[in-house]
Amino acid sequence: MRINQAEAIERLQRGEVVAIPTETVYGLAADARNDLAVANIYATKQRPANNPLIVHIGRTEQVADWASSFPPLAQRLAAAFWPGPLTLVLPARAEVSAAVRAGEPTVALRVPAHPVALALLNESGLGLAAPSANKYTQLSPTTAEHVEAGLGADIPVLDGGDCQVGIESTIVSVHEDGWRLLRPGMIDEAAIAAVAGTPASVDASAQIPKAPGQHLLHYSPRTPCLLFSSRQAMADYAQQYPHAVALLFGAGVAVTAKDTHLPATPAQAAEQLYAALHILDAAHADVILIESPPNTAAWDAVRDRLQRAAYQPKRQND
Ligand code: TXA
Ligand code: MG
Repeated sequence: MRINQAEAIERLQRGEVVAIPTETVYGLAADARNDLAVANIYATKQRPANNPLIVHIGRTEQVADWASSFPPLAQRLAAAFWPGPLTLVLPARAEVSAAVRAGEPTVALRVPAHPVALALLNESGLGLAAPSANKYTQLSPTTAEHVEAGLGADIPVLDGGDCQVGIESTIVSVHEDGWRLLRPGMIDEAAIAAVAGTPASVDASAQIPKAPGQHLLHYSPRTPCLLFSSRQAMADYAQQYPHAVALLFGAGVAVTAKDTHLPATPAQAAEQLYAALHILDAAHADVILIESPPNTAAWDAVRDRLQRAAYQPKRQND
């Protein structure tokens, strides 16, 4: 169900959930100060309660409403990348709901760059807790249609068109002695290090929060996915599976009769990645064969999502 900004604000103020566009993926938003509203997010997504949520804010000045400290390193990252696809994990103020933090002492914050999201945040003045607007472990949505396909036609959606970044934000935790990359995204580690002025910390003894939601089976289509490091190996495999479909990066040798080609540049591939997987998943194939993208840092975020999509829990008898 498509709704406009005014109705979105009314529903959010009443404690309901609303799917909203961001530049990365669509989020399932609710008032982060209202525990019942936050409980609605977990229920709608069927997400375990030990997986904390990102709080979206309209302006950097609002960090002080949520975080008990805003270290200079985090301020530099915010100044460089907000509004944008970067989430900062900072020490939480005591009054930030344990439902949002999932019991962690930290809170994840982000100022999104999508004009519709920013207008909603600044007009309502709310802090919006919003995970990706999909059922737990399923593919993230990058269009209003994806949201409705995954969560049902009754879910209220503020339609902001196609997401331009296409994969979830980079998550960086900032602690006293430095920073750590918790989830790769299109702002890559080198860009973070350049602004932070220090490389990511490797000192295991430092006080570093974890990203509890980073389990392997994530971003998964319903069709089994297999990741291949060579196109020849894919083609060999495809011979045994006439109902296989393939996802490839760049042009070149065909693998199946139904190949989908993504661009050979990381930003364009990321933008189109989930839409391509949604379509391949709807093709009723036996298996989705996926070409592993180049083994370079620029492809880290895309490779991370594909490795999680393709993860198969090891069977007992294997
Ligand atoms: O681009 C994005 O980040 C999108 C859009 C909607 O903003 N949101 C998103 O949310 O991807 P979600 O819930 O699918 O992923 C949030 C990740 C989870 O892995 C969660 O564990 C981690 O952020 N996270 C949230 N709060 C945290 C915290 N306090 N400490 C460590 N990790 C945290
Ligand atoms: Mg998600």
